[in-house]
Amino acid sequence: MDNTDLHEKQKRRLIVALDVSTADEALEAVSELRGEVGAFKVGLQLFTSEGASLVKRLAASGIEIFLDVKYHDIPNTVAGAAAEAAKMGIWMFNVHASGGSEMMKAALGAANDACERESLRLPKIVGVTVLTSSDRQALSETGIEQTVEERVLQLSELTAKCGLHGVVVSPFEARMIRDSLRVPGFEIVTPGIRPSNATHDDQKRVMTPAQAASAGSDYLVVGRPIMGAGDRVEAARQIVKEMTEAAGPTDPR
Ligand code: C5P
Repeated sequence: MDNTDLHEKQKRRLIVALDVSTADEALEAVSELRGEVGAFKVGLQLFTSEGASLVKRLAASGIEIFLDVKYHDIPNTVAGAAAEAAKMGIWMFNVHASGGSEMMKAALGAANDACERESLRLPKIVGVTVLTSSDRQALSETGIEQTVEERVLQLSELTAKCGLHGVVVSPFEARMIRDSLRVPGFEIVTPGIRPSNATHDDQKRVMTPAQAASAGSDYLVVGRPIMGAGDRVEAARQIVKEMTEAAGPTDPR
């Protein structure tokens, strides 16, 4: 594979978090970055302010959308939401793995049924394990006495058993998940990425793009280091460059 192909391949692994308040800001970032990254993530802030109509509009414009609203409710309610999410034409959405197997299976089943009924592509459904802003102390506060690693592994195994397509973990757990789960095609999405010259903001467990790319992560989610940069295109290109250097020509992803 030559360097251009490798660069294009790494680009598809980069997801930009559209953590802004208005459709105008989101559309501006999308028009700047659509040729530079693989997908755009709509999270709670933008979804709460602009709602599903913006998500549908973005998806219809031909870009891959990761709807990051982390569903966590009773199985029947999550199933209903998952079916609606699937009908929006998005590429990926997530549920909290701590919602349990019944909830995760309900989400997958409902999304599958909706897509079959309407001949749509099934979005990737991934389980959120432990938030990258959390550490052992934060887990302990909520009555969980496992280490972060133990908790992430337990929730990842559960997510895989339910047939979901992957998990969201910190890059620190990517290698452990890759080595212990060994479920073919099970994908690892990692936020908590900071280029070496960037601040950590509220993220507690961070890695550089190169480290995350070599740790077994399939997709890297990056928000503030790109969205807050003076030149977003340059910031995205720099990250893809770091990923490309780390991946090397033999990287399977
Ligand atoms: O700005 P930053 O790069 O920290 O953004 C990371 C994005 O990934 C945010 O939108 C955050 O909500 C999201 N995220 C996360 N940790 C998770 C799941 C999602 O940081 N476990």
